[in-house]
Amino acid sequence: MGIINLEGITKIYHTDEVETIALENVNLEVEQGEFLSVMGPSGCGKSTMLNITGLLDLPSEGKVYIDNIDTSGMKDGPMAEFRNKTLGFVFQSFHLINSLNVLDNVEMPLLYRKSSEKQRRELAKEVLEKVGLTHRMRHYPTQLSGGQCQRVAIARAIVGNPKIILADEPTGNLDSKMGREIMDILHKLNKEGTTIVMVTHDEHLAKETGRIIRFFDGRRIE
Ligand SMILES: Nc1ncnc2c1ncn2[C@@H]1O[C@H](COP(=O)(O)OP(=O)(O)OP(=O)(O)O)[C@@H](O)[C@H]1O
Ligand SMILES: [Mg+2]
Repeated sequence: MGIINLEGITKIYHTDEVETIALENVNLEVEQGEFLSVMGPSGCGKSTMLNITGLLDLPSEGKVYIDNIDTSGMKDGPMAEFRNKTLGFVFQSFHLINSLNVLDNVEMPLLYRKSSEKQRRELAKEVLEKVGLTHRMRHYPTQLSGGQCQRVAIARAIVGNPKIILADEPTGNLDSKMGREIMDILHKLNKEGTTIVMVTHDEHLAKETGRIIRFFDGRRIE
């Protein structure tokens, strides 16, 4: 069994009178250590799939197995803890907290664990070094470039040493040079063993990854 297994995932959103089928019977297996790209037109269900994989959203039908664990019966608390330990997220628009400096942003995921302040600092500094931002540790997100913000977001995603990184258009808001830097970091993390699932609209970047899957209208296509 892969590190990620989606079995018969259907997601239906109900809003007022409309019903949107965002995903329809999606199956997916991702092997440990893979770097997978997810592609398809706007609205085809890519983010929905990623959010369900990341346990940020629940499917209407189907099962999500992460690291061989059936997550369907999990209560909110244990699920949040499992998510925090196993999964790191990177979003197109960074999702940093503007009132916190870089170091504090990166430490955020560790606040939910039983680590000391000193340990948290050390781990945060370690991952900031990895993304080349040690010299911007005391800056605030608004004082950084887009590429730097995304590097902070990656540092935050990996500070807890997750097995899986889920990235939703991580280079979508960046120019090609900064996008390149982000891809290089993701490749490095993948070489170190982290499984990565990345949604992207960029064929060139997708081709650099180990495998591409495509969606259309909530279904996987080939
Ligand atoms: N919270 C929601 N409530 C209602 N409908 C939703 C919700 N989230 C997504 N949808 C619908 O589900 C479908 C899939 O959306 P999703 O965000 O997964 O697409 P996407 O492939 O990520 O698109 P993009 O490339 O534009 O990011 C869309 O038709 C969208 O309108
Ligand atoms: Mg999306």
